[in-house]
Amino acid sequence: MSFFYSFDNRQYVSAHRGNRSIRPENSLCAFTASIGCCDFIEVDVQMSRDGVAVIHHDEVLGRTSNGAELATRLGKPSLRLDSWDLAELRQLDIGSWFLTVDPFATISQGMVSPDDRNLCMSQTIMTLSELLNWAKNSRIPLNVEIKDQEGGRHDSTIVDTVLAAVASADYTESTLISSFRHDYLRQVKQKMPQIAIGVLQEEEHPDNLLQYLAALDAQAYHPDVEITTPELIRELRGGGFGVNIFTVNDPAIGRDLFSFGATAIFSDFPRLFRPC
Ligand code: G3P
Ligand code: MG
Repeated sequence: MSFFYSFDNRQYVSAHRGNRSIRPENSLCAFTASIGCCDFIEVDVQMSRDGVAVIHHDEVLGRTSNGAELATRLGKPSLRLDSWDLAELRQLDIGSWFLTVDPFATISQGMVSPDDRNLCMSQTIMTLSELLNWAKNSRIPLNVEIKDQEGGRHDSTIVDTVLAAVASADYTESTLISSFRHDYLRQVKQKMPQIAIGVLQEEEHPDNLLQYLAALDAQAYHPDVEITTPELIRELRGGGFGVNIFTVNDPAIGRDLFSFGATAIFSDFPRLFRPC
C-alpha cells in the first residue's frame, strides 16, 4: 500500500523544497537536513532543454544560483531553465547564494549559525532520478511537484519522463505527484493508476470540488493556506480525500489546521513541527 494512500488521520509534515529556511532550496544539502524533521519532502521538477527532469523551482535561473554569471560565461542568451541542457545546468552553483541571502532571517533568529551555512557550498542541480535514488536509500517519501513550464516545450513528454524515473527507481509507492496543471495529473493516472496524486490549487477552487477530485481519481487536494477554511477541510475529509496545505510556517496555524482535519502541511520550517 502506498504511503500516500493512507492519509486517514495522518498529520504529516512535509519539508517544502527541502529544508529551505536553513538550507538552499531544492539542494541535496537541504534534503539531507530534512531527514528526521519531516514525514516527506516536497520538490519541484522541470525539464532541461535536452529532456531531462531536474529539481528546481523557478523557470528562470538566477534567484537561487549563479545563473546570470554562468550564462555570460557560456554565451547563453536566455536564463530560462528549459533552454539549458543538463550539462549546462550541472555547472550551476545552487548553494553559494544562500551564504549571502537569508530569506527567512534564520540567522538573526538564532536558528542556524553562519558556520552551518558554509556546509552547503558546492551544491549542484540534481536530476529527478538521482533524487529518487537518494530518497529510496534514505527511506524518505517524496512529493514530486511537476511545474507547468511556460511555453510548453516539453508538454507532451514531461509526464512520461517523470513516471519513467519513478518506475526505474522502483519508488512508486513512496512518491506522490502533484501539479497546478491538472491535465498532467490526469495523464499520470491514465499511465500509472497506482501512483498517488495531489491536486494543487492556489486561487479559486474548481466547481463541484469533490466530484472534480473523484473524476481525477485524486488521493489528496493541495490548497494554498490562503484559500483553506475549516469547512473546506471537513468537506474534503468527509469525501475521503487527504488535505495537504501549503505553505505553513506558523506552528499555531499548523496546529489549527490539523485540529480541523488537515492531513499534511508543507513548511519551510519543518523542525518547528518535528523537532530534530
Ligand atoms: O507543492 C506545494 C508548493 O510547493 C506549491 O508552490 O511555488 O512553492 O512550488 P511552490
Ligand atoms: Mg513546489
